[in-house]
Amino acid sequence: MKYPVKVQLAEKSRREGLDFNSLPFGKTFSDHMFVADYVDGQWKNCQIMPYGALSFAPSLMALHYGQSIFEGMKANISTQTGEPVLFRAKKHAKRFRISSERLGMPEIPEELFLEAVNSLVSLDKQWIPQTKGSALYIRPFLFATDESLGVRASSSYKFIVFTGPVGPYYPKPVRILVAQKYVRAFPGGVGSAKAAGNYAATLKPAEIAKKNGFDQILWLDGLEFKYLQECGTMNIFAVIGDTVVTPPTTDAILDGVTRDSIIHLLESMNIKVEVRPISINELVEAYQQGELKEMFGSGTAAVVSHVADLCYKDQVYTLPNIEERKVGPMIKRKLTEIKENTIEENYGWVTPAQSTILEAAK
Ligand SMILES: Cc1ncc(COP(=O)(O)O)c(C=O)c1O
Repeated sequence: MKYPVKVQLAEKSRREGLDFNSLPFGKTFSDHMFVADYVDGQWKNCQIMPYGALSFAPSLMALHYGQSIFEGMKANISTQTGEPVLFRAKKHAKRFRISSERLGMPEIPEELFLEAVNSLVSLDKQWIPQTKGSALYIRPFLFATDESLGVRASSSYKFIVFTGPVGPYYPKPVRILVAQKYVRAFPGGVGSAKAAGNYAATLKPAEIAKKNGFDQILWLDGLEFKYLQECGTMNIFAVIGDTVVTPPTTDAILDGVTRDSIIHLLESMNIKVEVRPISINELVEAYQQGELKEMFGSGTAAVVSHVADLCYKDQVYTLPNIEERKVGPMIKRKLTEIKENTIEENYGWVTPAQSTILEAAK
């Protein structure tokens, strides 16, 4: 690799004694992290070090103006080789670049992103849970580090990757509330970037939804409150009759890696997929005609999350039981088997974790 990396290993692993069968999402972190700085127009100070706290000045720009992006991806142990494998790492690297570009941040070279991710997964492979539906979650992120209060793009940044074992995200089918007042993203905004601020904007509406007994919000476009965008932190799919429909990605919708994978897989199975705008009225009409067979959200954390109920304008629409659904449960199983390398795929999505840094250090 072009970038030299200093490796400092943890003296003692924290892995021992942890119960991997009851893992709350995003609360347990593996032994190491990868850190690099962008200073004077260059990536430098690349390090693998024990996971731990960092200290910052109160004037750190990311804290004030939100120049901060992230990715969320997963690794599993291959059921065939017993070695760690990553799912669509290159697509995540590409989306990270797209997010950084939209937020006026420097592009992270694909080589550096992939090396950081692969090295951490190889190094902390004993942290990868092997129960079905569990995985090692990988969190790369980039944030502004200039110490300054002027409103402008920062000139320095920090790139960090850390990982942690996770169990299934939404163990139960979700109840979703269709947004009526709040909006997640507008055309021309940053909705298609994985920008930290996108998530901040959804927290209050999500809390209100939760208080009213819902797990997630189905976001609509902010201009007409008519067209489906996303569901919480997932892309949204509906099965109407024998056709699977999902909205096209725009600058207000994240181009989900899981969404893209599902579209490819369904097409390869000759299941009819339509990528087109879907209005909430169309969904309600399909429901009333008995044609709305399924709805599900897709995302790295959740993989596929079945929608149990949809609430729109105080009317609750209860969807068929999971046992009666064909597409969602089948595609969830297939994706999980691909990620765990139990079944083959022809797309080159699943790659063994390989670290040139650690190989060189041997
Ligand atoms: C807003 C939003 N939409 C959709 C997704 C799904 O994207 P992916 O399948 O790449 O995880 C995510 C992230 O998981 C998200 O944060």
